[in-house]
Amino acid sequence: MQSKKNRVNLGFLASGNGSNMQAVIDTCKSGRLAAKPCVVISNNSGSGALARARQEGIPRYHLSGRTHPDPAQLDAAILDALLRHEVELVILAGYMKKLGPRTLEHYEGRIINIHPALLPRFGGQGMYGARVHEAVLSAGEQETGVTIHLVDAEYDTGPIVAQCRVPVLADDTAESLAQRLLKQEHRFLVETIAKIVSGEIAL
Ligand code: GRF
Repeated sequence: MQSKKNRVNLGFLASGNGSNMQAVIDTCKSGRLAAKPCVVISNNSGSGALARARQEGIPRYHLSGRTHPDPAQLDAAILDALLRHEVELVILAGYMKKLGPRTLEHYEGRIINIHPALLPRFGGQGMYGARVHEAVLSAGEQETGVTIHLVDAEYDTGPIVAQCRVPVLADDTAESLAQRLLKQEHRFLVETIAKIVSGEIAL
């Protein structure tokens, strides 16, 4: 991907624990990824993601319906934070909200999301956390996986950038599946961002 510098500036949006974000940060720190985490935005003031950003010394913002009750102003504030930190690639890492039209338009084709299933199945509104894995198990799937896709105005519907497959085992519970997937998510997110940064994957 084209960058003004030799490292691509990353911006994260995350609502929860932020372990996927941390995997990317750690890889940047190790020098194995030519990218720089520049800003973390969360709609959840108590999120692990914001705590991790603080720990890492990365600029961080709580931006939500509480800080900005008007959705248009929230959209503008999110875009402003991304622009102020010169973000080139936006990563939704467990972000539970939709993005507004201004942010989507400005960063069109440069916002990715990670989802713990093989989209287009097992995605959409309300399909997050244990619910995804419960649905996979109830459907009797022998395989699930990780999807990284471009973000549009809906939940989990943008064009798929990369997928990896993960087996479902006979004795899996939603929890065991979630744990196996999360490890793969960390690996696969880092690997996919590396390919985007190097140009091997063109967004
Ligand atoms: C991951 O399962 C990711 O695929 C989904 O939300 C979860 C976030 O986990 N979008 P974490 O906050 O990165 O630990």
